Amino acid sequence: MSIKDKILELKKEKNAVILAHYYVADEVQEIADYIGDSFYLSKKAKELEEQIIVYCGVSFMGESAKILNPDKLVLMPDMSADCAMAHMVDLENIKKIREEYDDVAVVCYINSTAEIKTYADVCVTSANAVKIVRNLPNKNVYFIPDGNLGRYVAEQVPEKNVILNSGYCPIHHAITAEEVEQAKAKHPNAQFVVHPECVKDLLDMADYIGSTSGIIDYVAKSDCKEYIIGTEEGVLYELKKQNPDKQFYMINNNQICHDMKYITLEKIYKVLLEETNQLEVDAKLREAALKPLDRMLELAK
Ligand code: 13P
Ligand code: SF4
Repeated sequence: MSIKDKILELKKEKNAVILAHYYVADEVQEIADYIGDSFYLSKKAKELEEQIIVYCGVSFMGESAKILNPDKLVLMPDMSADCAMAHMVDLENIKKIREEYDDVAVVCYINSTAEIKTYADVCVTSANAVKIVRNLPNKNVYFIPDGNLGRYVAEQVPEKNVILNSGYCPIHHAITAEEVEQAKAKHPNAQFVVHPECVKDLLDMADYIGSTSGIIDYVAKSDCKEYIIGTEEGVLYELKKQNPDKQFYMINNNQICHDMKYITLEKIYKVLLEETNQLEVDAKLREAALKPLDRMLELAK
């Protein structure tokens, strides 16, 4: 029996569900029950009836699923799959900003550790950040950890005073405007679609800016036949599946989140079989990190 069939059989037997982010390897997306962006997967994690969730993504994603579902078993195929940006916050700075401004909301991108979330008033993802920040009662917003997404949100919501942090995604931040210009010159009929974790110069050149699922929806609805992709290469799986008649071009050879690729079919089978790599979040930490996540789900409705 193939590893894929073994997983599917075991999953059925244990009544487990597999969640996968768009950045994991194609063969992992292929066996997942639900594939999506960070926001979709957080919402979905809360709606599931199954008792076992195998989370194919990086640690902050599994952690969020466990915080939202403390009674479920959340299994991580590889515990070391992490997001570099999730740690890029100096907690002292949050305290300083809170002392400096009496009307400030600390808005925390979901790409952050559970500990960092406990310092936040609300979480956001790239799919809902603009909407949530716009609707906050506070004039001042301290946006952590992603400086690029924070700057994009600030531009979209000029009525707010958005204080930026210096965190960034090493993969998105590294794509340069020069590389995009070269790709555009090579593919003059292509539209450029980009994730807001990229630098401003890139966003200024884009035909569409949005989360992974935003990009996928935009491409599906657009009449254009060619696209230059300003995000991680894993989105190609869904883009090609939904649009077999369209062409996709990456900008450089490094649009790869290696941590996402730690997730393999063999590791999924092993954790499902042995029920190892169970994600645990301390009860006190969970209670404090749940508040901004719940507020996000509420405000995003
Ligand atoms: P999405 O919320 O668009 O899925 O992005 C998550 C992420 O990690 C982007 O680098
Ligand atoms: Fe984190 Fe960047 Fe990987 Fe997304 S692509 S999980 S932001 S390191």
